[in-house]
Amino acid sequence: MSPAKSNDGSSGYDASQIVLVPLTTAFATVASALHAEGFDDAWDEDAIIRLLDVPGAFGILAYRPGDQAKNAKDQPLGFVLMQTVLDEAEINTITVAPDARRMGVGRALLDAVKDRLLAAGVTRILLEVAVDNDGAIALYRQNGFAEIGRRKGYYARPNGRKVDALVLERLI
Ligand SMILES: CC(C)(COP(=O)(O)OP(=O)(O)OC[C@H]1O[C@@H](n2cnc3c(N)ncnc32)[C@H](O)[C@@H]1OP(=O)(O)O)[C@@H](O)C(=O)NCCC(=O)NCCS
Repeated sequence: MSPAKSNDGSSGYDASQIVLVPLTTAFATVASALHAEGFDDAWDEDAIIRLLDVPGAFGILAYRPGDQAKNAKDQPLGFVLMQTVLDEAEINTITVAPDARRMGVGRALLDAVKDRLLAAGVTRILLEVAVDNDGAIALYRQNGFAEIGRRKGYYARPNGRKVDALVLERLI
């Protein structure tokens, strides 16, 4: 596996250290803390639990295992929360801790989602993304998503500014 890049573009992080586990409600505190780092309108623990409790919902959590010898704790890196209905799935949210970005965590989460959806017979993944979210759009395009629509004024920024959403689709 090629070395992943750190935020400044240097090498120094081994992407094989990313461990993926099911995001259960037991991790709601961890997930809400990660969400708060990624979004202005962050979801609290209750919101995460409610979304995970919906039939057809599942999540995947990425973390870097700690090292007892070095007194280093497990480090949450990011998570994705999905909703499936019959043969379609929607990405409800995906977020990666700011200091873990551009290291392949987002890509690893999307790969794991695809594997799980394929096993469940899902053939189509949908999502909405703000038109000005260049990083997320780049991640999705790199992972085979294509634009199929646009929702006018879908998101409201804290300053009240409305931003369109792109609707992206990936057939798997
Ligand atoms: C979008 C987000 C999840 C990407 O996660 P990530 O772990 O940094 O993504 P990866 O490292 O797996 O990136 C894989 C590829 O996607 C593209 N990409 C990801 N972030 C990018 C950015 N900021 N700018 C340009 N390309 C980007 C690149 O092609 C990258 O490959 P490379 O690093 O080899 O060039 C992360 O930036 C994030 O959490 N943002 C805040 C929350 C958010 O906006 N979520 C999406 C809501 S729709």
